[in-house]
Parts: sequence; structure tokens; C-alpha cells
Amino acid sequence: MPSLFARKPIADLIAEEGHPNSLKRSLGAGDLVMLAIGAVIGAGIFGSIGSAAAGQVGPNGEIIRVGAGPALVVSFLLLGVCCALAGLCYAELASMIPQAGSAYAYSYATLGEVVAWIIGWDLILEYAVGNVAVAISWGDYFKSLVGDWITMPSWLTTGYRTALLSQDPQIHGLLATAPRVAGIPVLINVPAFAIVALITMLLLLGARESARANNVMVAVKLIVLALFIVMGLQHINPANYHPFAPNGFRGIHQGAAIVFFAYIGFDAISTAAEETKNPQRNLPIGILGGLAICTVIYIIIGAVLTGMVPSSDLGKAADPLAYALNATGMTSIAKIVALGAVFSMSAVLLVFQYGQPRIFFAMARDGLLPQWAAKVSKKARVPWATTLLTGLFVALWALIGDANETYDLTNIGTLFAFALVCIGVMVLRHTDPDRPRPFRVPFVYVTATLGAILCVIVMYGLPALAWRRFGVWLAAGLLLYVIYGYRHSSLRRGSRVTPVAGDD
Ligand code: ALA
Repeated sequence: MPSLFARKPIADLIAEEGHPNSLKRSLGAGDLVMLAIGAVIGAGIFGSIGSAAAGQVGPNGEIIRVGAGPALVVSFLLLGVCCALAGLCYAELASMIPQAGSAYAYSYATLGEVVAWIIGWDLILEYAVGNVAVAISWGDYFKSLVGDWITMPSWLTTGYRTALLSQDPQIHGLLATAPRVAGIPVLINVPAFAIVALITMLLLLGARESARANNVMVAVKLIVLALFIVMGLQHINPANYHPFAPNGFRGIHQGAAIVFFAYIGFDAISTAAEETKNPQRNLPIGILGGLAICTVIYIIIGAVLTGMVPSSDLGKAADPLAYALNATGMTSIAKIVALGAVFSMSAVLLVFQYGQPRIFFAMARDGLLPQWAAKVSKKARVPWATTLLTGLFVALWALIGDANETYDLTNIGTLFAFALVCIGVMVLRHTDPDRPRPFRVPFVYVTATLGAILCVIVMYGLPALAWRRFGVWLAAGLLLYVIYGYRHSSLRRGSRVTPVAGDD
């Protein structure tokens, strides 16, 4: 019987293209850059940027993180370098292994089954849990967008965890004033739930339709961010740039650790490898092109935002960009930006709700998850069972969850996956040096080692609670592997994956 570290041959990975459960190749390079931008610019830049600049204090006055202040631009720069190094590694593996499943599939080929399982499990933090934070932030901007016209009771727009953890007496006070069922306060975030339900329905219609919708959303978000920059530039107060780094490198580091959320997603397009035309050429263009565009935008937004208002004020609102515009008297522009944020985050939700089912799908096809999860609909060729499951998981968590709490958990899981991808590239260069590599990481041992080290350094800036939760999550995953994956793995049982009939 193959060992726990049995590696899945790459030939098998590629041969799966003709598999009855394979997906339809319909995406080009342009679609991928758009998918990358669609996944990247979202709650990170519209929401988490506030806590990164201002810092964060817990409900009992304890300091969760110190803020970067205007030096946030340095955090963005550092993260840009870290993600570019990891992005290069993703590009090499994605072009060699053009298959659904992203880091999961790559680690199966390089580091073996048990590591692949851990990564697959870990990616749930990046995709599904990440989307919980995005859905909640979407709800915050949606509220500030329609607040003047539609009044919804706060207990229907605030999740229980948000009320519990908030320092704001008005929000925390909801715990006492909300209606109760069986003694438990009913605090639910209906807008966050509704947007996830809507996106899930769109995805069930098929990848092509979704990519087209994504293109429109990306165009809108770029226009709105350009508007923020142009208008914000006219309201810069140079005094706001002093002190530039109020908490020194510690602030830059801890700010980077939360705003890393803004970068998550450029790797998500590698989950679409199996649906990409000419993946060898298109994947590296999509990943690196998308990342470069977003890094430039973030640095400019960071510089403009921290010039408009004192950085310490940016933690006051869940919608910091709209807050800065309102604070400088540009209330109608604030509404337009809120509208753009709602569009941007819908695009992020779309890409992540698209990526997660394809990871489950790849794992099920390998026997590590039950076979029903590998079912693909006949007409649209969509992994419908896992699309639906992901929708339910994210929508229900978003109904009661808190955004800040989920940023940290998502970041730690994603950074861990990035680090393993960097290591995987080096392992594969060593174990399979002759395999054709349509895209090669330049100076691989330096680039990938630096990439892995930088990821660990950024992880180190996250609060201790995030590390503890991450440990629990990994332990639960390993337990599941022992109970199910270990016994059902197709590779370990020496069989190719059993085809599951198409099902509508
Ligand atoms: N990078 C994505 C966002 O900021 C996850 O919403």
C-alpha cells in the first residue's frame, strides 16, 4: 500500500482531461486577468484596510493589533513582493499541472497525499471562510448605500458575533435589545446571506456565464477606485502623513498581516486551470498580470486614504473608504464608492464561490471526499453538489458571523498554503527535473525560499488567537483524513478514480 506521502503522478493529473467528469475549457488569458482582479480587489481594500491603518481593540479594551498609519503603503509594498514570489511559484505549478484544485492538486503531485489533504482542508479557510468575511463586508457597504432609502432593523443586518465582539456601545447593545427566541438574541445579517444565495444561483448556471458577469463587475470596480483616487487627491491634508509610522515596523508588520486579505485571490484563478484554453501560456499571464495591477492600485489607494483623514480614525467605520469621503464632505461620491464596493465584493464572492467547489470536486475525484461531491451537471458541466454545499456553508456562517474575526483565520490559512506551494516548486524541481515546464520560476531556489520565508514572517504578525484557531482547524482536518480520506483514497487503493455518471 502506498505511503501517506504517496504522490499522484502528473501524467495522471493531466490524463484526467478526458475523464467523464472533466470540466469544459472556455476561459482565455483576458478572462483570467479579469478573474484575478475580480477575486483580489474587494473586502481587503474596502474593509480590512481600516483596521490595518488604525489598529484594533477587542471588546474588553485589549489590543488585538497596532496600526500601520500612513506607512500602510510600506505594508502593501512588502505584501506585493511576498505575493509576487508566491505568484511565480503558483504560475510554474499551474502551467505544469493545468488541473482543477489549485494548491491542493500541486501538493498532491509534489509533497504527497497527507500534505495535499491538509492543503485541501486549509484552502477552505481561504475560499469559503474568506467569503464569509467578504459577504459581511458587502452587507456593511450595502447598508451605507441604501441606508437613506430603506430602513432595516439593526437586528436583521448585524450578525450575532459582530454584536458580541464590537467595542461600539450601540452595536454591542443590540445583544440586549434584539428580539429573543428561546432566550437567544436574534441577530442575523440578512443582506450577507442573500448575496451569497444569489451568487450561488448564478454559478449553477455555468462558468462561462459567470465569467461574463465578472468582466462587467471588474470594469465597474476599476472606474470607482479611479474616482476615489481622483477625488481623494484633492482633499489630502499633508499633516495626516505625520507621524508616518506611528507604531514603527511592528505596525507595518501587523497591518500587513490583516490587509494581506486584500491580496488573496490571484491564486484562485489557478483553480480554473482545467477550464482554461492554452493554460501553459494563459495562467502565468493571468496570475502575475492581475497581481501587478492590483499592487499598484493598492499603494495609490493607501497613500490617498491615509492622506485624507487621520489614520487613527479609519478603524471607526466598517466602510473606511466611504467614511473618508464623507469626512471630507464628498457625500455623493461616498455613495458612488459604496455602490462600487458592492459590485467589487460581488465579484470576489463569485470567484471564491467558483473556486471552492472545484477544490472539493478535485478531492472527491481522488477519493478523499465522498463521490457525490464529484458530480458534474450534464448541460452546464458545473460541479453542482459542491457548489450548493459551499453556498450553504458560506451563507449560514455569514448570517451570524463577524468580518474581522474571519479575516485573520483566512489569512493564516492562505499564507500557510502559499508557503507550501513555494516549497512544492523546489521539491518538484528536485524530484522531476526533466518534466517540461512551460513557465519556469527564475532563480527558483532563491525566489521560492524567499517567498516561503516572507509568508511565514507575515503569518507571524497575526494575533495569537488566529494561530490557536488555525491549529484546531488543522487537527480537525487530520482527524477527518484518518476517518475517511485515508481509507477511500483512490491512489492508496491503487485504482484510478471511479467515474461518476453525469447528473443533472
Ligand atoms: N482579496 C479579496 C478581498 O479583498 C479576498 O475581498
